[in-house]
Formats: sequence, C-alpha cells, structure tokens
Amino acid sequence: METTIGFENIKLVLQHGFGFIISKVMFTAAELGVFDLLRESGEVLTSAAIAERLGTSHVGMERLLETCVGLKLLRVEKKDGEALYGNTDVSNLCLAKSSPRSQYPSMMYSSEVSFSNVLYMTDAVREGKNQMEKIYASPSNDIFAGFYRSKQDMKKFLDTMNSVWVLNGNEMMSAFDLSCFPLICDVGGGGCALAKECVSLYPNSTVTIFDLPKVIETAKKHYVSSEEHRITFHKGDFFKDPVPEADLYVLSRILHDWNDEKCVCLLTSLYKFCKPGGGVLIVEILLNEDRSGPLEAHLQSMMMLIHTEGKERTPSEYNALLSAAGFKEIQFKKGSIYSAILGRK
Ligand SMILES: C[S@@+](CC[C@H](N)C(=O)[O-])C[C@H]1O[C@@H](n2cnc3c(N)ncnc32)[C@H](O)[C@@H]1O
Repeated sequence: METTIGFENIKLVLQHGFGFIISKVMFTAAELGVFDLLRESGEVLTSAAIAERLGTSHVGMERLLETCVGLKLLRVEKKDGEALYGNTDVSNLCLAKSSPRSQYPSMMYSSEVSFSNVLYMTDAVREGKNQMEKIYASPSNDIFAGFYRSKQDMKKFLDTMNSVWVLNGNEMMSAFDLSCFPLICDVGGGGCALAKECVSLYPNSTVTIFDLPKVIETAKKHYVSSEEHRITFHKGDFFKDPVPEADLYVLSRILHDWNDEKCVCLLTSLYKFCKPGGGVLIVEILLNEDRSGPLEAHLQSMMMLIHTEGKERTPSEYNALLSAAGFKEIQFKKGSIYSAILGRK
C-alpha cells in the first residue's frame, strides 16, 4: 500500500543522488584555481574576467560559478546588471591553496583518487572486504602498497593526511596535557604534522616518527627542516619490528586501518616497549556508542571498507582493544571531528 510522502522527503533522495556532482563541482573549481584567483585578487570579478585569467571557456566558467554560489562556496553581487563573484569566508580559508589552513591537497586527492575508488563500493559491500586488488592490483592485506605505488602517489597521500591537521591538529594534541611525556613516538606519523604540533605545544618533548622506510625518506625530504632537532626518525614495520622506547605512543588514524586482531597485536607491542607510567594516545573519528552517527564516521567507515582491513569504532570498542593490550585509566576527549583517547601503562 502506498503511503503519502511529502515532497521534502522525496527531495532528500534527489539531493543525495546529486551528492557526487556536488563534490565534483567543488573539486573542479578548486582544481581550476577559482578560489585562489578570488583570494589573491581581493575583489569581486565577472565570470568573463575569471574565465580569461584561468584560461577556460566563458560558458563553462559561468555555469560553474553560478553552481558554486548555490553551494555557498562563492558569493555573488549584482552591479549594473552584471554578476560579480567573490569567495565566501570558508572558501578563502579552506579551498584556496595559499591559505595556511587549506584543504586543497585533500580535495585533489578526493577528486583524482577517491572519486574513482568509490565505484568499488558495491563490490566491497557484497564481498565484505577491501577492493585494493581490483583498484591497484596490490594484495588486499598490504594496503599501503596500493597507496604508495610511486613516490608521487605517496607524497599526495601524505599531503592529504597532513591537511586535516592544519585544522584539527592543535585541538587533538592539546586534548590532554602531554607535558608529562618527554619522549613521544608518533607511530605511523607519516607526514609529521602532529609531531610538529606536539613540539610547538610541549617545549620539553621530542618526537620520533616511526613509519615504513620509504615514508621516512619522503618525510625527511619534504616535511621537516634539518634545523628541527626535536623531531627524529625511525624506519620500521610496526607489525614486525621493535618500536623505540617512549613515554607516549601516538596512534593517529592507524587503528581504523586494521582489524581487531592486528590492533590488539600492535597495542600489545606498544605496551611492551612503553616506559612505566607512560601511555598511548589514539586519535580517530569516533562512532556514537549506539552507532547512530555521526555521519562523517559512517562515511569514513565506508571508505575504510573499500580501502583497508579496518573500520571506525565506538568508545567501547576502543576501550576493549586498549584493555586487551593491558592499558588502563582510559579517558576520552571528543573534538570537533576527531577524538583523542588516552590509555596508561
Ligand atoms: C592513515 S595514515 C595516518 C598518518 C598520520 N598518523 C595521520 O594521522 O595523519 C597511516 C600511516 O601508517 C603508516 N603505516 C602503515 N603501515 C605501517 C607499518 N606496517 N609500519 C609502520 N607504519 C605503517 C603509513 O605509512 C601512514 O603514514
């Protein structure tokens, strides 16, 4: 029997159906340099001027700009019957490359890599496993072989990982007072963004980045100046090699890549190397305890299904993993997107 459903609800289905076009409109405007031009020019411009300066067709640019206004990524003013476009505050902050809080690397990664990878979502749901063999012809149990097929791919991945921390890094590293942990090891610390945040917040701490050998080579070359003596490097595989002894191990967006068994294995190894009185700091997006949201956690978990062996977890699930490895006095601090979880030895 058919029930009466208001058009508002039908609109929801239509809007979700358009979701992928919305993302691509934002990526296209970022890729073509619309937000950079408008940030740098500091004044509102006509679509003809923007098209000319960016070397695109007028007809295409005009349509893109009008759509960006609809998405609140641009604003428009009318003067003498002519439309003049400018950035919104959030586009200035997050979408222009030159902004110190730019999300441009992550937008380009989503556009160039994730956008096509999500085509494998149906297969991932059917099979209940990642699609790395189909996407990258790499083994499904060696997920980083897929992400790191070339030096350029690795750099783009690490830039993308870093970009979220220009927004949330300070919040996560100050969620707990870490000044009592002078020796910190950022396990899977990749692009060093959290390590830099840490040394700037805690003048008495040093941070060792532990990551795969080729990631450490890239990190040394691109992310930390040789003058920064409080950030050091250690090459290894955290499932096979000993990690350096430390007061605190940071595990940011590591556990969500792996299944429960591998998480407990990694946490148990960290517990063994952790100095007495030390701890582990986990940074992840948390699912609500009743799994009702937040939506970002569910969407991220879908991406984990396509690409990894892991998933996003609830506080109880992290509690269970930490307890199984021996960590105690487990505390949670919820942030604006990510949360910090501290467990003590
Ligand atoms: C999802 S990224 C997170 C990077 C960083 N912690 C952050 O939050 O921005 C996972 C990191 O773990 C590293 N990694 C993956 N497998 C590893 C392994 N077996 N041993 C050491 N590092 C590994 C990757 O190279 C990458 O830097």
